Amino acid sequence: MINPDANSPIAVFDSGVGGISVLRELVRIMPGEDFLFYGDTKNAPYGTKSKEEVRELTTAHVQEFMERGVKAVCIACNTATSAAVRSLRGEYPDFPIVGIEPAIKPASSFMEHPKILVMATPMTIREEKFKRLMARFEDKAEIHPLPCPGLMEYVERGKAHTPEIKAFLKVLLAEYTGEGHFGPMDAVVTGCTHYPFVAGDILEVLGEGCKLFDGAEGTAKEVKRRLEKTGILREDGHKGEVTFENSSNDEAKIRLCQKLLYGNTGS
Ligand code: DGL
Repeated sequence: MINPDANSPIAVFDSGVGGISVLRELVRIMPGEDFLFYGDTKNAPYGTKSKEEVRELTTAHVQEFMERGVKAVCIACNTATSAAVRSLRGEYPDFPIVGIEPAIKPASSFMEHPKILVMATPMTIREEKFKRLMARFEDKAEIHPLPCPGLMEYVERGKAHTPEIKAFLKVLLAEYTGEGHFGPMDAVVTGCTHYPFVAGDILEVLGEGCKLFDGAEGTAKEVKRRLEKTGILREDGHKGEVTFENSSNDEAKIRLCQKLLYGNTGS
């Protein structure tokens, strides 16, 4: 089941199209690799499900990728990572499985004691993994976690930069602006891989002085490190390709993935 062949693809997995924000970093730093991007839109959103449901779905998908002979899996979803990465690593200690977590670490150290807003799904914020992460940095920063149910759906429906999402964010983020009870914020962490696609809309509400952090680049670098360490980084001059798959069998979703990866999304 474990495939150490450098020429095999890397699976990149998310509950929908959000994982493309991680895929674009992976492609940028490893242009010689083939990628299989899989979005589980049929079962999305993950962020409002129970941990057990998300763990079951994620485990089943990762096992299927391994059976199909991928050489590594990147779980490009904060929610799926918090639900399943630990048990998956326990089950498959020799197989490279890399997850993503909210970028609180870099956000905590870019200035002295910043005020940080962490936007993520309800499940990510509820989880023990997130509480431990927050505890590690609470003496360095004032951290405000904010569950954002409903936000990923705007990205899934191709509604970034529309008046609808701007109105939604204005209400959701009201308390974190200069006029709000907790604001203004020094930094915002996009703790869900869908949110970087609406980064511009988020900053419009929080103010351009707020610095945005997302975990995509760090995660992509970690995938590269793991491949190097295992000796399966592809270095034969091959021009990498991306294959898109989606559990909903909806062609429009595949087109949206391609648009988010190759097109100008304006975020
Ligand atoms: N993109 C996912 C994440 O990073 C979650 C979206 C969902 O709720 O399914 O958390």
